Amino acid sequence: MPSVTSTTLKAGVIGWPVDHSLSPRLHGYWLDQLGIDGVYLPLPVAPDDIADAIRALPKLGFRGANVTVPHKEAAFRTVDVLRPAAERIGAVNTIICKEDGKLVGDNTDAFGFMENIRAAVPAWQGAGLSAVVLGAGGAARAVLEALISAGVDDIRMANRTSARADDLARHFGSQVHVVAWDDRNAACEGAGLLVNTTTLGMTGKPPLDISLDGLSAEGVVNDIVYAPLKTPLLAAAEARGLTAVDGLGMLLHQARPGFEAWFDGKPVVDDKLRTHVLAGRAES
Ligand code: ATR
Repeated sequence: MPSVTSTTLKAGVIGWPVDHSLSPRLHGYWLDQLGIDGVYLPLPVAPDDIADAIRALPKLGFRGANVTVPHKEAAFRTVDVLRPAAERIGAVNTIICKEDGKLVGDNTDAFGFMENIRAAVPAWQGAGLSAVVLGAGGAARAVLEALISAGVDDIRMANRTSARADDLARHFGSQVHVVAWDDRNAACEGAGLLVNTTTLGMTGKPPLDISLDGLSAEGVVNDIVYAPLKTPLLAAAEARGLTAVDGLGMLLHQARPGFEAWFDGKPVVDDKLRTHVLAGRAES
């Protein structure tokens, strides 16, 4: 690694814990590839210290930071200015420190989700599409924001705890139709996109029990889960000839806007990056 000086551009990821985060590996790769004098650090911050730590970023010369679990809502409350996506999602995952010391909060998860779908299906169009979203946690909020921005006006949302889905429907608007968790198979009828934002299918969790029979023949199935990369849901989608999109791309693409703002470079998501980041996952 080249030596770090006072002019080296600084950013990082704030979380608690943060050791599992793949972001230092991801940004480190881009910095290296683009030959930028910058560093990207893991920044473990305890919940009690989060507002102070965020406020200190510009004072310590940081260009900004990513924010991960459990601090995205606290970051939302702490920044000075919210970009529209962060405002609508209700969480901040990217902070940009302005020259005047003001903190701008953005949420790039919706962007990352959409770019991941478009990378797999370049002709993907939201208008006229019916989509099924499973789950109603933080990831679902980003997916709803992305789908509504892309013009999808029929979003069928099912969550084990239906009150959480009701809250999201109230927040995001009439495009979101809540469906009972037990009716998730019927909800897929004629849908062109199915997104799993639940933790089902993740390593160590039960698989997601769903029938893909009703999806349209050109349907796209996306799993937000990326450990394992090929979840049972994606394997089933592939076996049916549907387009299966894994969750790693969302992580990689959501990182681009922050990198561009902090380091003033154009990062590229490609297979070499995927391999590099996955090797980090194997080590952790
Ligand atoms: P995130 O913010 O990352 O989306 P989260 O808020 O913990 O994570 O949400 C996890 C999602 O997985 C929720 O929709 C959760 O359903 P509940 O709202 O009912 O908790 C869903 N989930 C987790 N385990 C599940 C299970 N065994 N069956 C069905 N859904 C499950």
